[in-house]
Amino acid sequence: MALICTLSALMTAAASGQAPSAAPPDDKAVEKRVNALLDQMTLEEKIGQLSQLFVFSSSSQVDEEVAKGQLGSLLFVTDPASINRLQRIAVEKSRLHIPLIFGFDVIHGFRTIFPVPIAMAASWDPSMVTGAQTIAAKEASAVGINWSFAPMLDIARDPRWGRIVEGAGEDPWLGSAMAAAQVRGFQGEHIGSPDHVLACMKHFAGYGAAEGGRDYDASNIPEALLQNVYLRPFHAAVEAGVGSAMSAYMDLNDVPATGNRWLLHDVLREDWRFQGFVVSDANAVRSLAAHGFAKDQPDAAARALDAGVDMEMAIGSTAYSQNLAAAVSSGRITVQQIEAADRAILGMKVRLGLFEHPYVDEARAARVLATPEHRTAARLAAERSAVLLRNEGRLLPLGKGAYRKIAVVGPLADSPMDTLGSWAFQEDIAETVTVLAGLRNKVGSQAQIGFAPGVEIGRKFPSPFDQLSRAKSRAPWTPEQAKDELKKAVDLAGASDLTILVLGETQLMSGEAASRESLALPGNQEQLLEAVAATGKPVALVLLNGRPLDIRWASQHIPAILEAWYPGTQGGNAIANLLFGDAVPGGKLPVTWPRNADQVPIYYAHNTTQSPESQGRRYWDEESTPLYPFGYGLSYSTFSFSNLQVSQAELKIGQTVEVTAEVENTGASTADEVAQIYIHQRYGSASRPVRELKGFERITLAAHEKKTVRFSLGCNELSYWSAAKKAWVEEPARFDVWVGADSTASLRGSFTITQ
Ligand code: NOJ
Repeated sequence: MALICTLSALMTAAASGQAPSAAPPDDKAVEKRVNALLDQMTLEEKIGQLSQLFVFSSSSQVDEEVAKGQLGSLLFVTDPASINRLQRIAVEKSRLHIPLIFGFDVIHGFRTIFPVPIAMAASWDPSMVTGAQTIAAKEASAVGINWSFAPMLDIARDPRWGRIVEGAGEDPWLGSAMAAAQVRGFQGEHIGSPDHVLACMKHFAGYGAAEGGRDYDASNIPEALLQNVYLRPFHAAVEAGVGSAMSAYMDLNDVPATGNRWLLHDVLREDWRFQGFVVSDANAVRSLAAHGFAKDQPDAAARALDAGVDMEMAIGSTAYSQNLAAAVSSGRITVQQIEAADRAILGMKVRLGLFEHPYVDEARAARVLATPEHRTAARLAAERSAVLLRNEGRLLPLGKGAYRKIAVVGPLADSPMDTLGSWAFQEDIAETVTVLAGLRNKVGSQAQIGFAPGVEIGRKFPSPFDQLSRAKSRAPWTPEQAKDELKKAVDLAGASDLTILVLGETQLMSGEAASRESLALPGNQEQLLEAVAATGKPVALVLLNGRPLDIRWASQHIPAILEAWYPGTQGGNAIANLLFGDAVPGGKLPVTWPRNADQVPIYYAHNTTQSPESQGRRYWDEESTPLYPFGYGLSYSTFSFSNLQVSQAELKIGQTVEVTAEVENTGASTADEVAQIYIHQRYGSASRPVRELKGFERITLAAHEKKTVRFSLGCNELSYWSAAKKAWVEEPARFDVWVGADSTASLRGSFTITQ
């Protein structure tokens, strides 16, 4: 009989060492304080705490509602003076002096913009990610923001989905490690740690499986896939102590996530023992009616509360504030249900210290936002997040002084907003270093740098975020101008010794409401690329984007390709360092890179099939292998893996096996490698993926240095949710294990689990 691991024991390895370690706040004192408040609160005030509104500019209506205790939280207020002003109304004018909690999308930085989350996942460096979110939390909390709507933990296996940029990619193990790392960065040692904020795991759950990659479309996820893949990072975040969760927009297996009691109650609170509170995504409670799930707004409000949504996020007004009082009068919901939601929210306000320290020091806020070390951290993060996809003939690193005339070409090369990526609202655009600026900083007077955008690119349909973006808009080129600009760029490349092409997607081509049906380089960038390559001069391609793109032609004809993602505030300096060898690429793909969109969905952890040897030939008109596998990335040095040892050939269910392997830097310079361990269970009560990541370690090795990497495989790693048993199982079976540099690693061992 297989030993069934308890759910709470699962994935602890991914989150190991990452749970809050400082003394937790005194639960009894929190409870006492919350009870004392609840004793004095009217029903209207109790419902008020459950409402959160967007505030884009000061509004007398919001002021009034705050003063009457009709609002518990505001989002999108970001300047400390406005936050203090609103907080003063709550604390000094409202009857019970309950402070507001201010939320904001602090996704990859506040003033200092770090690389986008998919990029930070590509670092395979959880401690770096914790550091980045610690800085983001410090800046946000300095202005009075107490709560970040991050991390986004949606597994995404379809790069057409725009929000793939906001998560950690396709894999539950890597996703869990990044989840725990971010929670720790945002919240610190415990909720209420100074200079930190409350984290909010989102979007619970299954949003990344939107059909067709179309944002907001329904997700249909079989239970085993949900348990083994989509829910894993969320569980890791709960284990790491995350204090809040955001319910997703879409239907999950026909039940909208925001009205899904199984998800928000049975899984989250009962199975996982989540202690925080749940906020809906924006307007998602009202949308329960749009989904054809709730009959009307009163029904939507009651069903969201029943399902477990404690706070409703909305624009203008909430369905909760308008309908819950009547629902109590009619007996549709109970006061106890409202109080349960209040307890979770008020408890968090107490833990965050908002009652003791409701205001911020505006002068200090300005100083914190200007901290130079934050910019240095952002540069290092961008360097660690870049993935070198190709380097034929070792074109990179570029020799300093080797090229007298350098052409920098491409529509993104000198575009600050497009260097930052989505969810950047508080950056200082003037200090954002574009690739062109970074290269100029780097080469100084050693080379002459010319720039030409070559083409212009844009979305076919506008983005709902256009109004919020500060990207400069200008009249589009006429057909003649477009022709001239293309020619100028190609001429510049022809007249230079080297071209650095910067192509990809603009800021709003990736992110929310930014799904696409193709993965082609947008606009005429492919034409520009091929024309520049035809000059015969050396070309290095730098990609700025939030998803894998169709770069099949480039992957055969452009010698050097560096995936820089949206690298953030210091992106240009980081890229210049990487191109010239002052930093060495060590990032690895957190997502399988398809040849084109027609291959999607494609991910490494697919199940074994009846004809495994034909895996790469499933289509007759294109390879069915990806262009680059999950976990892949090159370095300026080379590495070899050898001597894989498994501590025992046979073990019993519940025992742990140790796997070691040697990694050697076989090149001539210091560089990083990410050692990755994959397993495969050969048979069992259900089919298992061909490979599954179960551990990784990013290491730095000097030239010719050798290191032994060690991994433990125990119940956490060897269990899975069996569709046949409808339970977590660890089964007697033979296992393969690989250690290497990506998901195609060939260094193999094996072991057997017996009863
Ligand atoms: C909608 C998005 O889906 C969510 O991720 C975000 O946190 C909220 N809006 C608030 O901006």
